[in-house]
Amino acid sequence: MGIGITAVGAYLPEKIVSNADLGQFFETSDEWIVSRTGIRNRRVAGEHEYSSSLGIKAVQNLLERYPEALGGIDLVMCCTSTPDARFPSTAALIAQEVGLVKVPAFDLAAACAGFSHGLNVANALIAAGQHHKILLIGAETMSKILDWHDRTTAILFGDGAGAVILERVPKPYGIESLVLGGDGAGGSLLYAMDLADRLPTLEGCNPKLTQNGREVFKFAVRTVPEAALQALEKAGLTVADLDFLVPHQANIRIIEAAMERLKLPSEKVVVNLDQYGNTSAASIPIALSEALETGRIQTGNRVMLVGFGGGLSWSAVLMKWYNSEK
Ligand code: COA
Repeated sequence: MGIGITAVGAYLPEKIVSNADLGQFFETSDEWIVSRTGIRNRRVAGEHEYSSSLGIKAVQNLLERYPEALGGIDLVMCCTSTPDARFPSTAALIAQEVGLVKVPAFDLAAACAGFSHGLNVANALIAAGQHHKILLIGAETMSKILDWHDRTTAILFGDGAGAVILERVPKPYGIESLVLGGDGAGGSLLYAMDLADRLPTLEGCNPKLTQNGREVFKFAVRTVPEAALQALEKAGLTVADLDFLVPHQANIRIIEAAMERLKLPSEKVVVNLDQYGNTSAASIPIALSEALETGRIQTGNRVMLVGFGGGLSWSAVLMKWYNSEK
């Protein structure tokens, strides 16, 4: 047996904030934002909506599509850098609300690489025989850690959540290779902190999301194709074997640069950042959910997920898609 994703769901908050709407906070234009990032709209959680609220709704959406899916879940993980609280974990809050009581639950924080890092961990726990069926959620309320007066960051991010179930699937389906990468030397390039003030490039401690956009851009352009090629090589495959790339949705120019380097046509790349912006650890499961709902990704397709972000961190997961949807 292999290990694969057998159910997917997603949720986006109702409030839409367009590029034009951002003009109330700072001087910018739709044309500037679209040409630099590809983003047109983003969703923003309500004042009393938190990452757990979005995660719960993503799990409920998964249940609408796969009503029996939560039976036998023995671990809940939530990938988030915007947890409701330091503790209890957002995973525990979600688990309780969706009826998974007495099931272990914890959060995993790897910024925008959170979901693909989470898949690495969940896959290893199942492969080791320690757990059998894992609910893995990516849920973020980036709007709560943005400086809404910083036009270099506030334009990029949005809120949302996605949820998947990972478990044993028949061969030849399931995960074929995984990559986990990190470079702590780049930690000060992208951060949001409220406890420490010791990052070398900081002048004072800004608790809000702060980045060196150009350096992060260069890192991403380099990392997405490298991680994808590494995962393909580990599986003994080439780009020609790939049906879909589902990259973290940060910036259309980053995705286009990866497509160019990998020589991947746009039909093989899943992009939805124009509507949601960068939803951090939620972006890959949301994109997956949409690609499945529209019938783009089908059983047997070879799908590559690549996440990257603060840390610096990056990870890739290559799989032959198994679709259990009845
Ligand atoms: N609207 C209008 N003008 C803006 C603006 C905005 N929202 N943001 C920045 N500008 C201005 C700058 O002030 C600068 O003006 P100046 O030349 O007079 O100083 C000019 O536009 C160019 O700024 P620059 O920062 O060089 O733009 P850029 O082409 O590098 O684009 C980003 C900025 C943030 C869009 C780009 O660097 C990026 O996307 N980086 C990656 C960020 C990312 O994806 N982070 C998350 C990764 S998980």
